[in-house]
Amino acid sequence: MATHPVVIIPGDGIGPEVTAVALRVLEAAEAPLSWVTHKAGIAALEDGGDVLPQATLEAIEHERVALKGPCTTPVGKGFASINVQLRKRLNLYAAVRPVRSLPGVRSRYEDVDLIIVRENTEGLYSGVENEVVPGVVMSMKVATEVGCRRIAHWAFRFATQRRRRKITVMHKANIMKLTDGLFLQEAERVHAHEYPNIDLETMIIDAGCMKLVQNPSQFDVLLLENLYGDVVSDLCAGLVGGLGVVPGANIGDRGAIFEAVHGSAPDIAGRDLANPLALLMSAVMMLNYMADEREDPRCKQSADRIKAAYNKALADGCLTRDLGGDLGTRAFGDAVIERLNG
Ligand code: NAI
Repeated sequence: MATHPVVIIPGDGIGPEVTAVALRVLEAAEAPLSWVTHKAGIAALEDGGDVLPQATLEAIEHERVALKGPCTTPVGKGFASINVQLRKRLNLYAAVRPVRSLPGVRSRYEDVDLIIVRENTEGLYSGVENEVVPGVVMSMKVATEVGCRRIAHWAFRFATQRRRRKITVMHKANIMKLTDGLFLQEAERVHAHEYPNIDLETMIIDAGCMKLVQNPSQFDVLLLENLYGDVVSDLCAGLVGGLGVVPGANIGDRGAIFEAVHGSAPDIAGRDLANPLALLMSAVMMLNYMADEREDPRCKQSADRIKAAYNKALADGCLTRDLGGDLGTRAFGDAVIERLNG
């Protein structure tokens, strides 16, 4: 049977533990995939290479799909963030993070179903920083018309395909009149010209955060520039059970990298404590993406089986410690595999 090659990057910290579980579940669910393993982050550095080796980049460019564990970026040693580099080099301009209440997972809300669309290449993450004079440093926020329009188009197209009703743009255009002003203006323009059937709501982000915490079910799709998207993703993860349950995808016109929202969690690494669900959910997103991109219904079948199995495992009370249970990383993987056949 033909398989689709996918680049797998185990990553650092809890990365190898959660990717190992995802790979076992994918194999048990007969996902038609084969793996091309590459390193990034500390793991690549320890191999004597760069934090983001050329071979890793080229492999992703070639296979066009990757499943990635979190990578640690060493702080303050002149290393640019691996994730920012990857997203920029491969032009993965749209980050998508579905945030949903899950069966059996106790959290503050029971009816959250929102999707964060984050611009992934511009804003303060452009990394243009300099020391103006000793004691004064500066970071430049960059917004381009092309970039703002591109992510607005992507978000409205995505919302239409997913039958979503409303996009909320959160911004700070009252203060950052040019950069956030452009982001807002392009969203309004794309909406008015091409997608009048979807509601567009705009909101200053500080008030938006309060509304998210008070009543998250009023939101449908959130469209955010880079830094706001980063911060609000973790805030929204907190609404549904934490970082262990929020998956993500970084998507461009020529490929995609699927990874959880969480980082390498050095505080729990190597202790069988990490929740592998966020990466497993990211793998399900990847299979659904491939079902469309590669027109292979087997990918959708595997995705549906895995999703049903983890929902059943959660509803049966199979929970890792971050969710109040006592299962280890591997045992949660076993619980999902046991439920793959219904
Ligand atoms: P983090 O997401 O790694 O951890 C924050 C807290 O959430 C920690 O208490 C951690 O134990 C917990 N947590 C995270 N994932 C979990 C999981 N799957 N199961 C159970 N608990 C989980 O964020 P932090 O501490 O800010 O960053 C640590 C490192 O990760 C840094 O080097 C950072 O640069 C990197 N990072 C990498 C990302 C990526 O590769 N996509 C994304 C975010 C951070």
